[in-house]
Amino acid sequence: MTVLVTGATGTVGHYLVDHLLALGVTVRCLTRTPEKASFPGGVEVVRGDLGAPESLDEAFDGVSSAHLITFAGEDYAPIPDGSAVVGKLLAAGVSRVSLLKGDSSASLVEEAVFASSLRWTVLAPVEFMANMLEWTDGVRKGRLEEGFVDVPSTVVHESDIAKVAARVLVHGGYDNETLWITGPEALTVRERVAVIEQVTGRAVALTELPAAALEAQWTAYGFSADDVSFMLQMKTNPPEASRIPRDTVRRVTGHQPLSFREWVQEHAGVFSNNQPGSRGLPRR
Ligand SMILES: NC(=O)c1ccc[n+]([C@@H]2O[C@H](COP(=O)([O-])OP(=O)(O)OC[C@H]3O[C@@H](n4cnc5c(N)ncnc54)[C@H](OP(=O)(O)O)[C@@H]3O)[C@@H](O)[C@H]2O)c1
Repeated sequence: MTVLVTGATGTVGHYLVDHLLALGVTVRCLTRTPEKASFPGGVEVVRGDLGAPESLDEAFDGVSSAHLITFAGEDYAPIPDGSAVVGKLLAAGVSRVSLLKGDSSASLVEEAVFASSLRWTVLAPVEFMANMLEWTDGVRKGRLEEGFVDVPSTVVHESDIAKVAARVLVHGGYDNETLWITGPEALTVRERVAVIEQVTGRAVALTELPAAALEAQWTAYGFSADDVSFMLQMKTNPPEASRIPRDTVRRVTGHQPLSFREWVQEHAGVFSNNQPGSRGLPRR
């Protein structure tokens, strides 16, 4: 069985590659730049661009199931021709896909998948724990500015999102379902910072930024007005799963989801010294 991973060099995708290898299947990784990518031994690596469906034939050939991101490009713009990508998947004989959901509205590729004969499972994660890598510099300096510091969020470990995807892609089930994927507990920013302090032994003075300052910061980072409004809505009117943990990870994988403390323990070196931490802009 060959499983294709799009976004294989990304935050969720690199964990998915590992989980699929552990399940004993052949893993094929799609990347626009194989020369820059580094993957575990034994995986197939194919060049392709989801924004250019004509580049995907080799990547899709002989694949049973595929994990799809819904964007194409650095700015997370939706894949422009979702129908063409789905047409290529069907022509190659792919029967099942997992879709990593972005915004609350369905993207073009999701709509094309829903209208097709593919069996699909939408993975709808809440806020990634990896977003907290944006705090790296602040934690090192002992001064952090953040907004909405008392809003709880059921932050999820990226590995758990990938574990759910791997299970569905290899063993099936959850056909035509949307799975909310959360961590085991809802923690405010204040509580997450306290966990980082306990694990790293560093004191961090947290200052609350007013919403307007946060919006200005996001805009300065280059986010569009739509993105800013989406991110603000996630803070002021979050979906229920962002407030109340779901048991999806345990139900689908048989394992308890990883806690924020475990995530910080894995990344303690990043918060404590000069290992590269943040990958740049905050991610949605
Ligand atoms: N951060 C959060 O809290 C959060 C929460 C819920 C949902 N999400 C969603 O999660 C998704 C981001 O996932 P992530 O953080 O794992 O991604 P990421 O780390 O930003 O990785 C980006 C990946 O996309 C690939 N890519 C980009 N454009 C491509 C194209 N045109 N063709 C083929 N591949 C392309 C890149 O591959 P190459 O560069 O190797 O080609 C890379 O592997 C977004 O849809 C976001 O809305 C995020």
